[in-house]
Amino acid sequence: MSETPATTRLPDESCTRLSVAPMMERTDRYYRYFARLLAPDMLLYTEMVNANAIVRGDPNRWLEYHDSEHPVALQLGGNEPAKLAAAAKVAEQFGYDEINLNVGCPSDRVRSGAFGACLMGDAPLVADCVAAMSDAVSLPITVKNRIGIDDGEVCNDSYEFLAQFVETVSQGGCEMFIVHARKAVLGGLSPKQNRSIPPIRYEVVAQLAREFPHLRIVVNGAVRDSECVAERLEEVAGVMIGRQAYKEPYWLAELNRQFLNPDYELPERPDVVAAMADYAAEVVQGRVRLHHVTRHMAGLYAGVAGARAWRRKLAALGSVDELAALAATPIERLNG
Ligand SMILES: Cc1cc2nc3c(=O)[nH]c(=O)nc-3n(C[C@H](O)[C@H](O)[C@H](O)COP(=O)(O)O)c2cc1C
Repeated sequence: MSETPATTRLPDESCTRLSVAPMMERTDRYYRYFARLLAPDMLLYTEMVNANAIVRGDPNRWLEYHDSEHPVALQLGGNEPAKLAAAAKVAEQFGYDEINLNVGCPSDRVRSGAFGACLMGDAPLVADCVAAMSDAVSLPITVKNRIGIDDGEVCNDSYEFLAQFVETVSQGGCEMFIVHARKAVLGGLSPKQNRSIPPIRYEVVAQLAREFPHLRIVVNGAVRDSECVAERLEEVAGVMIGRQAYKEPYWLAELNRQFLNPDYELPERPDVVAAMADYAAEVVQGRVRLHHVTRHMAGLYAGVAGARAWRRKLAALGSVDELAALAATPIERLNG
């Protein structure tokens, strides 16, 4: 779809065709391990990590992950080129496959730190951030942004505003933009409202992909079924999925087969649970509680008879052995 230049740092287009979105308190390493069991070929993003936490804090706490999570992209939050570059260097040492800069989060907390979506109003600064990270590491540096921003006084939601942003930031060395196809309303709406109230405008992202064929444009926002994925892939190089990937994780396995690898054999859900029990036995010690691992599995049986009993049993688990026993119990027997 896009005309990737020969010198690109980006992996082959098939590697970024489908991805799971960065989501705070959702896409932690435990969720990503689980998602990887379901979708071996999909690109996974971390939660947003503030560059400060890596540079000044304990990088192990924020950056450790399991080898099986590859390909995995770290999303950074920040607006200081030098600090982002330092954080990107640490991330490269940890083996991440991509660094993504958050230019889409509308929360007041992020906004008061002057990063996230409000950075769309300062494209030259975003270009500097990208350039500093690009100089510091050899990984691809990507940006996740909205189609525009509206702070109640100034509404920058024209296609021209978006195109100018992308043009400027690409000059800093960004070759892939993940565009949440809604504007961000800064002030006024909560982050949650900002994910549903501003209307979805896929056509704007499609136009961007047409007019910037040398860039890789990935669309995000409100993609909830395979038909929508297929339609979006007619328009852009990739689709990033957020909430539905969490609500109905088994869909990721189906997507992996339909869009990434037709030979992929869908896993049986009980085998996935058994693999999670093995994983939990490794990680659940001291600091990590079993619930931190299992809470991400609540949607595994979404849409299947017995889903409610599954969620109840999962929430009541007291030990890894009980999780292993749950894996071995047929779903139709859970009600008893
Ligand atoms: C609980 C939650 C946390 C999120 N955290 C982040 C984040 O850390 N960084 C980010 O860029 N977007 C974040 N988002 C936004 C998603 O990445 C995505 O852009 C948004 O949910 C729209 O996609 P969807 O309709 O497929 O969910 C978050 C969304 C949710 C629901």
